[in-house]
Amino acid sequence: MKNDRQAIKWPKFLYRYSRSLLLGLMTLVIILGLHLLWGIPGLTQETTTLKVLVNALEAKEWSSLVEEFEEKNPQIEIEVVEGPTDSNLVENLYSTAFLLGKSPYDLVYMDIIWVPKFAAAGWLQDLSGKIAPSELQDFLEKDIEAGRYKGGLYRIPFRSDVGVLYYRSDLLKQGGYEPPENFDRLQIIAQELQQSTESNWGYLWQGKQYEGLSAMFVEVLEGYGGVWIDPETKAVGLDKPEAIAAVEFLRHAIESGITPSGVTTYTESESLRFFLNGESVFLRNWPYVWAEANKPSSPIQGKVGLKAMVHAPGESSGAAQGGWGLGIAKTSKHSEEAWKFIDFFTSRDSQKQYILDYSYIPSRRSLFRDPEVVDKYSYYPKLLQAIDNAVLRPPIPQYAQVSDILQRYLTAALTGSKTPEAAMKKAAAETRRVLGTS
Ligand code: GLC
Repeated sequence: MKNDRQAIKWPKFLYRYSRSLLLGLMTLVIILGLHLLWGIPGLTQETTTLKVLVNALEAKEWSSLVEEFEEKNPQIEIEVVEGPTDSNLVENLYSTAFLLGKSPYDLVYMDIIWVPKFAAAGWLQDLSGKIAPSELQDFLEKDIEAGRYKGGLYRIPFRSDVGVLYYRSDLLKQGGYEPPENFDRLQIIAQELQQSTESNWGYLWQGKQYEGLSAMFVEVLEGYGGVWIDPETKAVGLDKPEAIAAVEFLRHAIESGITPSGVTTYTESESLRFFLNGESVFLRNWPYVWAEANKPSSPIQGKVGLKAMVHAPGESSGAAQGGWGLGIAKTSKHSEEAWKFIDFFTSRDSQKQYILDYSYIPSRRSLFRDPEVVDKYSYYPKLLQAIDNAVLRPPIPQYAQVSDILQRYLTAALTGSKTPEAAMKKAAAETRRVLGTS
C-alpha cells in the first residue's frame, strides 16, 4: 500500500519545516495581536529624535549630559548639530531655517539676545505653562526676564554669562601693581608691563565684526556712563560724548600698541589663545576662560586673576550680561519630549556638573554658593554681584539689525577708516532709522 503522505504531493521543505513554520506563524499572530490590543513596550514606542543646533564652542561640551539624558530616556535621541562659533552666525542659521518654514530643529539653543526677535516672529512655543513659578524663582531674574516677551516665556536659561577682566597676577605682582580700577590705570599698567616683561601685548579683547564686539563694547560704554539704546524710550546714545569716549579708548589702545591691530580679527577664541600662551597682561573675556587658563597643561596655570571691568572715574564697572538657554521651535511636533530635555538640562544637577567641568556661570542663584562650586571657584560669589549689576544688550526685536550697525561702525573706527566721532554719528543715525525714531 502506498503511503498516504506520498499520495499528497507536499513540497519537501514544507514537510520538513511544517511544524516549526506553523509554530512561528502562530507566535507572530499572537505578538501582532497583543501589540494591537495593548501595545508592547519596545514595539510601540518609537524613538523620537530631537534636533538642536549648538554653537561649536559648546557642542562637544554637551556630550556627557546628552548621554546621561539618553540613558534616562531611551526613547528620546538628541541630535546635536554643530554650528559656527560666532553667536550671530548661529542666529542666522536658525532664522533662515525658520523663515523657510521647514525648520529641522525641535530645540532652540538661544543666546540671551535673540528672544524678542524669535518670539515676535512666532518661531517659539510659549513655555509659561510648563514650569511652576516657584521653580522659576531659583533662576537669576535677569536671565528669566530676558526669556520673556509680551507675557510669554520662551527660553529657560541653561547657563548665564558675564564679561570680566583677566590679568596676569604674577606680572602685576612683579611690577608692584594692584589690579586697575579705571581705564587710564589699565592703559598705564599694560604699557609698562608690556615693555618690562616678556609679554608681547598689554590688553586683548574681541574686536572682530561680530556679536562679541557689541558685547565687549557695552562694557566700555557703560564704564564711560554711556547708553546704547534705552529699551523703554528707544533713545539712542551712540553719538553722545560718553559713547565717543568709549570708542576713543579702544582706538587708542590699538594706536598706543597695547592692543595689536590684528584685534579686529579676534573673537573670544583668538584672544584667549594669545593670553593662554602668555602673550598679554590683560584680557577681556567670559568666565569659561578660568578653567582653560588653570588647566594643568596651561602655561599660565595659577598666574591669573579676574575682576570686574575697569571704568572712568566717578562711573561704575560695566559687565555685559550674556548667557544661553533653551526654547522649543513652534514647528516641533515633539514638544513633550523637548520639554523633558529642557527640564533635565536646566536642572540644578545638570548645571552643576556642567559648570564644575567648564567654569561656566550657572543660571540658578543657589549654585553660586554651593560648597562644591565655591570650593573649586572661590570667586563665584563675587561673580554673582557682577551679574546682578550686568548690562543687558537692548532687548528689542530689532536687536540683530542694531547690533549689526554698531559692529560695522565700530570696525570703521577701530581700523581707522573713520574717526570715532564720525563713525558713531553714522551708527546713531542708522540705528534711529531702524527704530523709526529719526
Ligand atoms: C558669549 C555670551 C553671549 C554673547 C557672545 C558674544 O557666548 O554668552 O551672550 O552674545 O558671547 O560672542
